[in-house]
Amino acid sequence: MLTDRFGRHIDYLRLSVTDRCDLRCSYCMPDDFKGFEEPRHWLAFDEIERVVRAFARLGLQRIRLTGGEPLVRKNVHELAARISAIPGITDLSLSTNGTQLEKKAQALRAAGVTRLNVSLDTLDPSRFAAITKRDALDRVLRGLMAARHAGFVPIKINMVAIAGATGEEIDAMVAFCIDQRFVLRLIEVMPVGDTGRNVAPMSLGPIQERLRSRFDLIDGIVPGAGPARYLVSRDGQFQIGFITPISQHFCDTCNRVRLSVDGILYLCLGQNDKVDLRTPLRAGCSDDQLEALLRDAIQRKPLRHEFGELPARIMRFMSSVGG
Ligand code: 5AD
Ligand code: SF4
Repeated sequence: MLTDRFGRHIDYLRLSVTDRCDLRCSYCMPDDFKGFEEPRHWLAFDEIERVVRAFARLGLQRIRLTGGEPLVRKNVHELAARISAIPGITDLSLSTNGTQLEKKAQALRAAGVTRLNVSLDTLDPSRFAAITKRDALDRVLRGLMAARHAGFVPIKINMVAIAGATGEEIDAMVAFCIDQRFVLRLIEVMPVGDTGRNVAPMSLGPIQERLRSRFDLIDGIVPGAGPARYLVSRDGQFQIGFITPISQHFCDTCNRVRLSVDGILYLCLGQNDKVDLRTPLRAGCSDDQLEALLRDAIQRKPLRHEFGELPARIMRFMSSVGG
């Protein structure tokens, strides 16, 4: 098993398969963003598979495909099938904005993706367009229905809480998710890139307490790799998670690292520590050398983010490494 300097077991890799996206969410990517990675720097599926196999030999078990928007990478379902066939990988999930789920949900499910997170901040078409700069709410809603039809369980809705904007719609989203049997997760916005720093953050603690009494919820435990703390309905049917990197950070139980599309392993979302895997992969390193690189990288994982003390530290945008 991979264990870092602070005794944390690292069993989860978030794998960004592209830094591109068909939306431009205000907190994530600038409207006129031009700094995309060059295609020749993208790890090929063979290279990604090699890294995942090496991680799996070291005991890592869970993979999440992310982006940017992972479904804009061509044939990502083929990559999913290759990853889910790797011995030792027991859980393959995907985070998406949902715009292409209507056509791709079936193929992803058949490729071995079981769990799906869909980003959806609002149910109001004009607010959706204001946040994402695209008129795509209907497509996302159809994508969600297609995902359910394809058999994904659970389907989680990730909603970024923005004061004065999506913050006003939390109760409507709770009602939607109760009705549709989706798990809802509220997320505090992180100061990643200028985009992340330019939106009004919202602390989730007070919201959690208000929802607890309004919807008669109790503390609950929901399986998954992540740091969300959950409230559930008394019949267990509805579950809402709170992801609070800012108001109550969870770095002491962090179990993950992130691989960007250009083959850089990022050891923390809120720090700049990273290890280049692409150069050694393309220089023909051996499997033993690759495993040693990964083991060393894990030893460089920092203790915690410093979003509070150093909010301007992370200059890269969320879309480049995945949330
Ligand atoms: N803070 C928190 N989450 C973010 N995401 C993107 N940018 C940020 C940010 N600055 C996450 C959201 C979104 C997903 C694609 O990435 O969860 O739904
Ligand atoms: Fe795209 Fe997700 Fe960033 Fe929105 S938050 S621009 S959907 S990568």
